[in-house]
Amino acid sequence: MDTSFDMFIETEVPENELIISRTSLSGVITYANETFAKISGYEVEELIGKPHNIVRHPDMPKSVFKEVWDTLALGKNWQGFVKNRRSDNGYYWVHADISGVYKDGKLVEYKSLRSPVDRETKIKMQNHYDALRKTEEKSSRVVLYLTDEQIEAITKII
Ligand SMILES: Cc1cc2nc3c(=O)[nH]c(=O)nc-3n(C[C@H](O)[C@H](O)[C@H](O)COP(=O)(O)O)c2cc1C
Repeated sequence: MDTSFDMFIETEVPENELIISRTSLSGVITYANETFAKISGYEVEELIGKPHNIVRHPDMPKSVFKEVWDTLALGKNWQGFVKNRRSDNGYYWVHADISGVYKDGKLVEYKSLRSPVDRETKIKMQNHYDALRKTEEKSSRVVLYLTDEQIEAITKII
């Protein structure tokens, strides 16, 4: 049997910093703050002009983003938990609040403000999204939590 595994490093979102971005109405990034760039592992200039799915993590079920866009189309805010992918394939969890940006009463862009997520909620949401993906996409994943000693032992071997 051929066995392989990947290790993904989590980046913690600092308590005192907000990750901010704005997009066009089709989801292309028009503004990204330094914190967003730092946490996602990109430069601000790399993010601007790219579709926001540049940080999409494969663990996120399709239905979550369908719900985001359906909610925005109704003129409402969407709030929820999102696992995002870093440029180095690591990940970070955020609580996102996505809403419309209005100019003279007209919807011109969307914006998202994100804040940190506690460890318990991350585990709960990971399980929830794993279950959703299993029904939607018929794909499963196994998550294993390792102690610092186990990680040290593995990194010595590889
Ligand atoms: C303001 C705004 C912020 C968004 N932020 C994220 C985000 O942080 N991560 C993400 O995966 N998708 C985000 N999205 C949703 C993406 O546009 C996209 O729908 C999603 O990544 C799924 O990609 P797909 O449509 O190619 O499947 C955001 C959308 C908007 C309008």
